[in-house]
Amino acid sequence: MKQLKNQTLLASVLTDGKGQQVFNPFDDSLLATVPMSCQAKIEHDVVEMEAGQKAWQKKPVSERCQLMKKWHQLILQNEDDLAMLITLEGGKPLKEALGEVRYGASFIEWFAEEGRRAYGNTIPSASNDKTILTVKQAIGVAAAITPWNFPLAMITRKAAPALAAGCSFICKPSESTPLTAFAVTELAYQAGIPKDVLRMVVGENAHDVGEVFTYHPSVRKFSFTGSTLVGRKLQMQCASTIKRTSMELGGNAPFIVFDDADIDSAVKGAIASKFRNAGQTCVCANRFYVQEAVYDEFIQKLVAEVDKLKVGNGLDESTDIGPLISKEAKQRVSDLIEEAKGRGARQINQERSLEGNFIAPTILIDVEHDRPLVQGEIFGPVLPIIRFSEEDKMIAMANDTIYGLAAYFYSQDMNRIWRVAHNLEYGMVGVNEGIISTEVAPFGGMKQSGNGREGAKEGLEEYLETKYVCIGGLDR
Ligand code: SIN
Repeated sequence: MKQLKNQTLLASVLTDGKGQQVFNPFDDSLLATVPMSCQAKIEHDVVEMEAGQKAWQKKPVSERCQLMKKWHQLILQNEDDLAMLITLEGGKPLKEALGEVRYGASFIEWFAEEGRRAYGNTIPSASNDKTILTVKQAIGVAAAITPWNFPLAMITRKAAPALAAGCSFICKPSESTPLTAFAVTELAYQAGIPKDVLRMVVGENAHDVGEVFTYHPSVRKFSFTGSTLVGRKLQMQCASTIKRTSMELGGNAPFIVFDDADIDSAVKGAIASKFRNAGQTCVCANRFYVQEAVYDEFIQKLVAEVDKLKVGNGLDESTDIGPLISKEAKQRVSDLIEEAKGRGARQINQERSLEGNFIAPTILIDVEHDRPLVQGEIFGPVLPIIRFSEEDKMIAMANDTIYGLAAYFYSQDMNRIWRVAHNLEYGMVGVNEGIISTEVAPFGGMKQSGNGREGAKEGLEEYLETKYVCIGGLDR
């Protein structure tokens, strides 16, 4: 790919037209083709990863973590190229893509340090002739399926704790964004991480890869980021071999503005949360609830700021919102808007009609609460606003969903902050803050938004077994 400064990043994977085609969502032009594996090859990969894992876990943790630190450095040294790939195949504005590279790299650095702290315990025994202790051991081969919306960070957020724990890690990146995945993996190899410890595979058929990852007995841990619909099915498949799973699934994040909020800060948070990656993140604010007394002020300030946002090619430095990932995504979001409008919703910001895979930022009021726009995950730059009066009814509405990933609210009243944070049935709550993702905090959802956590010390635990050892026959 001639746009890259470092030509080694994709040198070993680009094919001469055979394999998985990768397109630029900005203009649907063909970017590259990468190799695809059949099911038998992926099964063979798993067997190799099993051998690789055994050798990897025998390495002293300090050695594993040094290799990971080298990987982290190489990612930062190549951040412009990686950001370029993210923008080209995912559409995200370049400045956001660069943010993703740094965010993704931060997991590697953090887990390279945390891997050294995989502590067990000693436990006081009931009798003097026994000592009881626990040790932490790598769970084995870990497999993952990752999405297109964060083609780098969703891989490193899973791979880094896996490698730090002593697991090997095999991953199917999204067919839409494999270039970033292969490039970041190439840097791991250049850092010295073996090919049978970290591997990306693109299947001839996504379903086949999912089957190997979820049914193969040698895969002991399966991690997925994607929709609740697909996650539910994969989780059932994993049941056949009782695998440990982490599921980062869909969300329907409420964003609540109380009448004691700092409105300027709420507007800033709303824009940051809603329009990140054109609204295509699981933690994007999905539905907005604004209390009566501040409703007019909030929407007036919001409209003024949203209409300044520039929609365009992610490669343009001034772009705030890039294209959606595909034609189908655009159609789905347009249908949601039209359906809500057909039931009385009104757009109150500037209407812009855009060609290609773009959807302009859209603010809708008078939206009925039971519409699919409010009840499901939008995954687009659309912001439905609902007026409310009473806090307890508001919380009940916010919790009335199968999802429980992220929620946001703005208030300056300390009692309310504690009360509402406690009562929201969500795995992550942003208070006076629209961007909450960080490597140091546990990312994950309640209810049908999934299980398990990524990032933080909880993220390492997902890849570790706790083994209890009882030493008996002691003479004390
Ligand atoms: C996601 O959308 O799945 C991840 C978003 C994040 O890490 O902030």
